[in-house]
Amino acid sequence: MHNPNTFYITTPIYYPSDKLHIGHTYCTVATDAMARYKRLKGMEVMFLTGTDEHGQKIEDKAAETGVTPKAYVDQIVTGERGVLDLWKLMNISNDRFIRTTDSYHEKAVQQIFKQLYDQGDIYKGKYVGKYCKPCESFWTETQLKDGKCPDCGREVVDAEEEAYFFKLSKYADRIQDLLENTDFLLPRSRVHEMVNNFIKPGLEDLCVSRTSFQWGIPVDFDPGHVVYVWIDALSNYITALGYGNDAYHDYDKFWPADVHFVGKEIVRFHSIIWPAILMALNLPLPKRIFGHGWLLLDGGKMSKSKGNVVDPYVLAEQFGVDALRFFLMRTFPFGSDGNFSNELLIQTINTDLANDLGNLVSRTTAMVDKYFGGSLPAEQRYHGEMDDELIAMASGLRDKYEEAMEQYAPHKALDEVFKVIQRANKYIDENTPWTLAKNPDDLPRLAKVLYHLLEATRICGILLLPFMPERMEKLFAQIGAGPEVQTWESAARWASLPACVTVCRGESLFPRVDMDAALAALEQVAQASNPQAAPAVELEPWVEDPVDFDTFCKSDFRVVKVKDCVPVKKSKKLLCFTLDDGSGIDRQILSGIAMYYKPEELIGKTLVAIINLPPRKMMGLDSCGMLISAVHKMEGEERLNLLMLDDAIPAGAKLC
Ligand code: MSP
Repeated sequence: MHNPNTFYITTPIYYPSDKLHIGHTYCTVATDAMARYKRLKGMEVMFLTGTDEHGQKIEDKAAETGVTPKAYVDQIVTGERGVLDLWKLMNISNDRFIRTTDSYHEKAVQQIFKQLYDQGDIYKGKYVGKYCKPCESFWTETQLKDGKCPDCGREVVDAEEEAYFFKLSKYADRIQDLLENTDFLLPRSRVHEMVNNFIKPGLEDLCVSRTSFQWGIPVDFDPGHVVYVWIDALSNYITALGYGNDAYHDYDKFWPADVHFVGKEIVRFHSIIWPAILMALNLPLPKRIFGHGWLLLDGGKMSKSKGNVVDPYVLAEQFGVDALRFFLMRTFPFGSDGNFSNELLIQTINTDLANDLGNLVSRTTAMVDKYFGGSLPAEQRYHGEMDDELIAMASGLRDKYEEAMEQYAPHKALDEVFKVIQRANKYIDENTPWTLAKNPDDLPRLAKVLYHLLEATRICGILLLPFMPERMEKLFAQIGAGPEVQTWESAARWASLPACVTVCRGESLFPRVDMDAALAALEQVAQASNPQAAPAVELEPWVEDPVDFDTFCKSDFRVVKVKDCVPVKKSKKLLCFTLDDGSGIDRQILSGIAMYYKPEELIGKTLVAIINLPPRKMMGLDSCGMLISAVHKMEGEERLNLLMLDDAIPAGAKLC
């Protein structure tokens, strides 16, 4: 019987093929905030994350580096600044961490695979696809790029491979019903995408084994086959609880999961394939899949190959872990894509954390210190209408926050908290404590105003705990709130702080960030850590000998238009150009640039040529002049670019 006081939440297990970036951190921080929120409410939480360590990509990367696949993933998972270090730094409170290379998981997956095979849900067939010989990789038609291998750009050939298939098609109707008629998948918008794009066109059976690489869990009853991706990866959610193994014993307690948080591109696997596998195993389905959006950079996806990944280590070190966690959850609506930028991060820190929250705490504690020596007096005077709005907002905050969190909308929950923080700052301006302080008769009122501010801050602090656990501990210490008034219950109980509360002013919780200095520092780090972003360019040595002006002026540089361009027979290097140089008579120039340009791409281009060089014969053809190009070396490789001009410039125009 499932216990209503338990909560099981997961992140996707990450591919440790490269270091994790801010996009991965986003999902893990969101899961962590949700797990901490549920614990705050008193629930018994199981928060699982981990790494998905098998597959061709890892096998290839390991081979490139000259180590075994296991040594390769070990380095990325447990090595310095690896996955585990990152989650420790980000204060991620996962209860369990699964690696798909853990032997208990591997054995359980073999058992699941065998059971599905024995009962006929997995059968042996042929995987037909496109094969890239040099990469030894199978691709589907849709994965190809311009009909070629998406990895190396070379030709692919039709090929077949013996493989096992999971009968996904058998479950299509039940899954369509699950998606359309329940809240299994959120946000709702993702349901239409799944049903219309994948189920309605007809679900195909899923290839679940491969023979073209070895780095996977062996299919124990058929040597040569390894389990391919999804049965291995998705099963982690149950094997980590002890399903099919003796390493853990929490399956009955925590399964079915309350929610799997996943990025939008893997919603398909979680909302179609995963329930189908569980249906086949006759196991309960997770209660919810929540598909969050992507953090984009300049409107596009971050990826190592584009060289535009944002390193969470750098940001956390520069701005603080909690500021980064907060920014991720506050700024981007959880179900949609968001555009990441350093500017936005700094603005959010300055506006919400330094100005609004930081100032509220520092102004309030400074005034308690200044006007009452650090401890509020018991004698306080309540004025009613001046205070009602703040008290009502702060007292009702927990319910609004809870409603948003239960809808997996942390950004909305934070928005509610910040409305109260902003209201509290306005309350300071309305009550002008510095004026009250001037009149001894107003001191009981002043004490009450400051007490209200501390109370509002306390309630906000509790609700911010899941997002900024470390900073909120400091906040509680500063406002004199002990553990008994940091609880979920007390967040809905106005006036929980004792009247004679003692504050303890401390360091600024969120120092203001100097935008220009911070951006420059980030730029420097990026340059230092990513030298390949600006590859070393090797230039020709500078000529020291001067050329006299008259000699220089004798060189006749003209604008020329390419009328025709063809390769010179029997030459690997030479292209033969027919050029319009404005004289009315075609000019022929030969140029050794065939390895840089295809002839057809140059036809019609506007180039520059020196035309008064004496004609030269090459491969039996006359060359009357020379085309001008820029040459340099990059990464040891010779590069050449023809000088191309705006097509509006007429043929024959002289360069001077
Ligand atoms: N290994 C699979 C998941 C298997 S779950 C049984 C995988 N791994 S991944 O490392 O490529 O991605 C892990 C998660 O990170 C995915 O949910 C993905 O959406 C998320 N993100 C990767 N880049 C992201 C952004 N730029 N923004 C937000 N999340 C992104 O997929």
